[in-house]
Amino acid sequence: MYVQPVGTPKLELDTPALILDLDVVEANIQRMADFLRDKPAKIRPHMKTHKTPALAHKQLAAGALGVTCAKLGEAEVMAAAGIKDILIANQIVGRLKLERLMSLARSTDIMVAVDDEQNVADLDEAANRWGVRPRVLVEIDNGTHRCGVQRGERTIRLASQVAESRNLRLAGVMGYEGFAVFIADAEERAAAARGAMEILTGAADDCRSSGLEIGIVSGGGTGTFDTSGAFPGVTEIQAGSYITMDGRYKGIGLPFECGLSVLCTVISRPRPGVLITDLGMKQISHEFGMPHVLNVPGASLTKLSEEHGLIELADPPSVPHQPGDTLEILPTHGDTTINIHDYFFAVRGGLLEAVWAVGARGKSR
Ligand SMILES: Cc1ncc(COP(=O)(O)O)c(C=O)c1O
Repeated sequence: MYVQPVGTPKLELDTPALILDLDVVEANIQRMADFLRDKPAKIRPHMKTHKTPALAHKQLAAGALGVTCAKLGEAEVMAAAGIKDILIANQIVGRLKLERLMSLARSTDIMVAVDDEQNVADLDEAANRWGVRPRVLVEIDNGTHRCGVQRGERTIRLASQVAESRNLRLAGVMGYEGFAVFIADAEERAAAARGAMEILTGAADDCRSSGLEIGIVSGGGTGTFDTSGAFPGVTEIQAGSYITMDGRYKGIGLPFECGLSVLCTVISRPRPGVLITDLGMKQISHEFGMPHVLNVPGASLTKLSEEHGLIELADPPSVPHQPGDTLEILPTHGDTTINIHDYFFAVRGGLLEAVWAVGARGKSR
């Protein structure tokens, strides 16, 4: 890749380019740290959003406990970047992956979620062979109906099985309230998060009543950071998107700003009122709706093909654009857009400051 020099103005960068506004990102990290300062809960930010060690280190420097990963491959990238305290908030299943997990457990204090008795037995057996004792969180289904066991007898049984496994350490419980994080009405969202955290902390208390030691109670996303992060008994929150934000989260009135965009170039002006750019669905995702054109009033991105984007301008066009002009587009879903880029172009005050590899992009195994 030809890398333009530090100090290059943002709008002159080669495109399509994934842009990170460092002042905004650092302010978002600080805002989260300020909110949690007087709370018992701390943040273990989710890496699935930015997948970038340089950003993880900024979050750790601001007080993050460690990191949360969705996949083993992400965890391996973070471990290679020197991060030791890693939660894989997911089930690790299958012989090959168990080997990789135990290999990671040799150099990090890894933690993994479980919701199945056979999986616990397999983890214990693999840990025994590797001579390691990874930490385990029992995943509770607290309303999302994805992975996780129901609060009650099964949770207690599974937590007891982990506690009795010679090569595993029962660290606590986790439950992610994904069904609540995008609820537009703030009070409804808070009520949904409170309900989920009642189930999660209740499950932790049930285990304690059965004589089990539960240290970690982990949940919380960006949309619910304030409710879940202040809920009595919750010790960690797993929010990820707050660092960059995106078009979908922007719409629900959170105290974080959008620091992410994709810069593109106008390559054609085929008809009055229409611009074609070099930004297609291979560079920006659209499963949460069409991305937004920034700084051009009345302009909307109405069509994405593989390598082209079609922008319709207000009539008459508010700004006369020429082929070669660059435009910034706000993704509606940050995580899936970042995952299809090799590099972040980090800018401050409109000038390029750093280029960071998105180290864990595509690490879905
Ligand atoms: C397990 C888990 N924890 C936390 C999150 C938080 O993500 P966000 O900050 O995007 O709400 C997610 C999002 O999918 C998740 O799957």
